[in-house]
Amino acid sequence: MNTSTALAAPSPYWQSPDGRITVYHSRWEDVHAAGLLPVREVALVHADPPYGIDVATDRSKSKGGKKFPKIVGDNAPFDPSGLLALGRPSVLWGANNYAARLPDSYAWFVWDKLGTMEPFDGSDAEMAWTNLGASVRLFRHMWRGVARGSELSTVGMHPTQKPVALSSWIFTRAKLKPGDLVFVPYLGSGPDLPAAVAMGLRVIACDVERWCCDTAIGRLGAITPEKAAEPVGPLFGGAARV
Ligand SMILES: C[S@@+](CC[C@H](N)C(=O)[O-])C[C@H]1O[C@@H](n2cnc3c(N)ncnc32)[C@H](O)[C@@H]1O
Repeated sequence: MNTSTALAAPSPYWQSPDGRITVYHSRWEDVHAAGLLPVREVALVHADPPYGIDVATDRSKSKGGKKFPKIVGDNAPFDPSGLLALGRPSVLWGANNYAARLPDSYAWFVWDKLGTMEPFDGSDAEMAWTNLGASVRLFRHMWRGVARGSELSTVGMHPTQKPVALSSWIFTRAKLKPGDLVFVPYLGSGPDLPAAVAMGLRVIACDVERWCCDTAIGRLGAITPEKAAEPVGPLFGGAARV
């Protein structure tokens, strides 16, 4: 698995043939600073940042799991001020971990992972802060290790992998229309990408980890020129493809 390769100055790492999806292997802050994010066009910032909780990433003892590298930035409290400064409609996951650094909002999203009584060391639900307004809204979708309501073929793509169905639900709640631009600053394994393609959305996405970019791109059945040039090794770090 590729980890922590040197980061170049931001330039697209991959773009879909129709130009709708652009992935940067870069810090999102650097992409923004380079003027590559058309902020006023962004219809939604959909962020799943490092929560600052130093989450365990060795999943090799669980069924279908593997040992992942630590999540970049997860060893320090998350500061949402850079994302808030964009001033766009936003959904920020893990916000219960940094709520004190967010404005008040009566509208949060809660994802109930539909836990049962069996022991499970992950959380029963995840929470997202949003400035989209309305009320607290609940999404129910089973996601407990290999007990999943969807995507049995994508187990083990990322230590904090979220379902594509969750992205689809968020995009629908945000009332996005075909052609709207979604900014995904923390791409990870990229569940936003298949959801966006299905809805005809445009995406600008960033991740500092090349293996994450490759995994996310691979979910669309694509491959980067860099990967294609590699003579040996499993594609996309051995991640499953949908
Ligand atoms: C919580 S994970 C996202 C997981 C994703 N939701 C999924 O379903 O796979 C956060 C991701 O942000 C990336 N990251 C951390 N700091 C970053 C930054 N400043 N800019 C871009 N990506 C960053 C990490 O490499 C990690 O993959």
